[in-house]
Amino acid sequence: MLELLSSMKLGPYELATRVVMAPLTRCRSPMGVPNTMNAEYYAQRADPHTGCALIISEATMISPQGGGYPDTPGLYNDAQVAGWRLVASAVHARGGRIYAQLWHVGSISHPDFQPGGELPVSASAINPGGEARTPAGARKPRVAPRALSASEIPGIIQDYAHAARRAMDAGFDGVELHGANGYLPHQFLSDASNKRTDDFGGSIENRARFMLMAADACISVWGPSRVGVRLSPNTGSPAIMDSDPVATFSYVVSRLAERNVGYLHIMETVPTWPSVTPPIPVRTFRPLYKGVLITNAGFTFEKADGYVRGGDCDAVAFGRALLANPDLTARFRRLAKGEKEVPMNEPKPETFYSAGPEGYTDYPTLGH
Ligand SMILES: Cc1cc2nc3c(=O)[nH]c(=O)nc-3n(C[C@H](O)[C@H](O)[C@H](O)COP(=O)(O)O)c2cc1C
Repeated sequence: MLELLSSMKLGPYELATRVVMAPLTRCRSPMGVPNTMNAEYYAQRADPHTGCALIISEATMISPQGGGYPDTPGLYNDAQVAGWRLVASAVHARGGRIYAQLWHVGSISHPDFQPGGELPVSASAINPGGEARTPAGARKPRVAPRALSASEIPGIIQDYAHAARRAMDAGFDGVELHGANGYLPHQFLSDASNKRTDDFGGSIENRARFMLMAADACISVWGPSRVGVRLSPNTGSPAIMDSDPVATFSYVVSRLAERNVGYLHIMETVPTWPSVTPPIPVRTFRPLYKGVLITNAGFTFEKADGYVRGGDCDAVAFGRALLANPDLTARFRRLAKGEKEVPMNEPKPETFYSAGPEGYTDYPTLGH
């Protein structure tokens, strides 16, 4: 029987287990350039036998326009490629694998992040609500973005292709298109945030076009087997909640299945986060896609192992658990052997987006 700690093939790679590190923004790359502290953080989690079998990087800006959080990394200039090279080689030195999560935040940005102080862009001029934390650290209300003209869209798709190319130059093993959590591809997909009347709006086919073009841009660089796509059908905040998420996401999953992408990363839900009610389970999409299906959000060892054994998914991504426990797989091995009480470090949310090593590289491993 398949288990969470059994090996797995992912595209051309043989992974030691099915434990994946979920993408985690940490706001610790000033000027958008990854540094040696970032490399240390990833390296701590990179050993496939003790940490995780695959790291998905924190969300990484494909362009200055795609950014919207302080001190997040990018993949659009040479300094960023050099910074990511430090990270990728530190991960590889531990025998690990790392994919870059490619990110354009669209309307979630703020003029303070935009070149020339311009408005953020999106599918439609709809304010997503809430507050942005600006580069200077102040909280400011988000604004209504500018709707992209159809003629601007190929340029953004080019930005995805260029970032995918730079990810290869930096030594990543593949890329994940960030199609989840209310960012630009999701803003095009959802009928709550997309009111367009051209080829990019209206029908599900039209709303999915941007996401699929961005996926194709990644595939044009990496081939399909080293491209993953993250989707969040359960994101239930009003600004992004689709009126028929099962139909919308079934369509996207089917089109990505035809492209033979290396994996799909479909989030279920976290009980405390706004969600579609009742939540759509990942098994809804299982029949539509035969490739590697990763799921995430709120999983314990027992739940994850149960999902893999039950065939709901092939692998599980862990966010906060791996953030706080660099040796998560080592701890899971003890649980798998039947130990009842394996201690786990608790994540410290106040340090998720702070600066420096506290709550970043200082979580202890077992026995240390
Ligand atoms: C600090 C933090 C940063 C996050 N950053 C990202 C991100 O960059 N990209 C993304 O797709 N999801 C991001 N997420 C969502 C996580 O990938 C994951 O879905 C979430 O933590 C739920 O999984 P968990 O219960 O295993 O932590 C973030 C979550 C947290 C807590």
